[in-house]
Amino acid sequence: MSAAARRLQQALAPHARRLADTRIAGLVGADPARATALSLRVGPLYANFARQRFDDQALAGLYALAADAGLQDALRALFDGAMVNPSEQRPALHVALRSALGTTPVAQDAHAQARGARARMASMVDALAASAVTDIVNVGIGGSDLGPRLVVDALKDAHSGRFRVHFLTNVDGSDAFHRLRGLDPAKTAAILVSKSFGTQETLLNGTILRDWLGGGERLYAVSANVEKAQAFGVDPARVLPMWDWVGGRYSLWSTVGFAIALAIGMDGFDALLEGAAEMDAHVLEAPLDANLPVLHALTAVWNRNGLGLPTHAVLPYDERLALLPAYLQQLVMESLGKSVTPDGEPADVDTVPVLWGGAGTNSQHSFFQALHQGTQSVPADFIGTVRPDHPYAENHAALLSNLLAQTEALANGHAAEDAQKRYPGNRPSTLMLLDALTPHSLGALIALYEHSVYLQSVLWGINAFDQWGVELGKRIAGELLPAVKGEPARVEDPVTRALLAEIASRR
Ligand code: F6P
Repeated sequence: MSAAARRLQQALAPHARRLADTRIAGLVGADPARATALSLRVGPLYANFARQRFDDQALAGLYALAADAGLQDALRALFDGAMVNPSEQRPALHVALRSALGTTPVAQDAHAQARGARARMASMVDALAASAVTDIVNVGIGGSDLGPRLVVDALKDAHSGRFRVHFLTNVDGSDAFHRLRGLDPAKTAAILVSKSFGTQETLLNGTILRDWLGGGERLYAVSANVEKAQAFGVDPARVLPMWDWVGGRYSLWSTVGFAIALAIGMDGFDALLEGAAEMDAHVLEAPLDANLPVLHALTAVWNRNGLGLPTHAVLPYDERLALLPAYLQQLVMESLGKSVTPDGEPADVDTVPVLWGGAGTNSQHSFFQALHQGTQSVPADFIGTVRPDHPYAENHAALLSNLLAQTEALANGHAAEDAQKRYPGNRPSTLMLLDALTPHSLGALIALYEHSVYLQSVLWGINAFDQWGVELGKRIAGELLPAVKGEPARVEDPVTRALLAEIASRR
């Protein structure tokens, strides 16, 4: 058994057994101070863990686990640019994009490079603002799409209004077809965002954009492979660098955030980075037992391994955060969807939960039935905003009352004579509140999840920064492409052969 798995089992199993019949309502009832004792605030972000299914003793065990697993050393290693991604022989220095907390030359150099690139990006934002361009199309996928898309959508109240920003992602041509309809190529600039500049979807859509724009004058690129971007036809003066020490799903703070800067201006982009930097300083400096990302990660591991819960829901009660579950699916599931240790040994422990979710209150009228009365307990992060950016006070009061009601109902349940109307309750959740949804608070929230994901990977003994599991399908798709086009090709798999014949017969 891996050392991490053994450590987890020893720390969690006795408490999980002891608390098997303990109910959240009982924990809260026995200790009214729990509601405030199990809460933490970092700048504009408040989080309450009182409705998790652990007691003080289990929590002490979790903090002891955090110390045993060396979480603080692991954080220092991350910030200092140690080789935390051994399968790709790289550090993961996304923190250097927004804070200067790394003490080593490699971390400080990364921070200096990031600052230099941000200054270039700022001058490109100014140049575009002074041009006749009205629309921006961000072409990218995965980490080159989800982060910028989330932030641009979430911060619509902070948009400067200078540009309309669009996102083109899917290799499905209908995405390009519909996205470009109604846009004027003479007033549109495209940013091809690809760390590798080798991603099929982005290159195909980039080719459509290059042709549609009728030249490279308004074609920009963001890539760690500057040569490839230039070979594609992007003028070097319009290529912004990023680096192999930034993982795609951790990259919105880099030049990958060009679309964000165009939407909310450089001041807004800097505020986003400052919010993340506030969380960076907190995670690095706060003691283990008063550290928000540490408690968030310990809670995730408790729910996954102590209680054996296989999924996790993210439920923002703010329509502007509707894309957060999709963003976190990549961050969490691409980072933690691993079953071996960096040495290639079995992890021997259940790792990533299936992450899913959706915005409230809409979700209440679709899948919440299953959350309340389904056979599986789904731990959830509820996220709300205290101060809205609209004038509809009645709506906001209704939104917040629904948010509070749902977490209460899930935890406490409801006893009824009629079994159909009975709610088992005892379903754990964390409630997070942003004072307001601003670039700063959003930066802090996203950085909280980034740190939690890394800390979970340390607790599980897996690498959070590679994603080898996505490669096989890409290779097979490349091999099948000639056959799909009707060119002669050898296809080994009999099912795939039959499916190709079916497609060919219906064309
Ligand atoms: O296929 C997965 C992946 O590599 C993600 O990790 C990444 O965010 C995405 O593809 C896009 O990659 P790139 O930025 O290199 O185009």
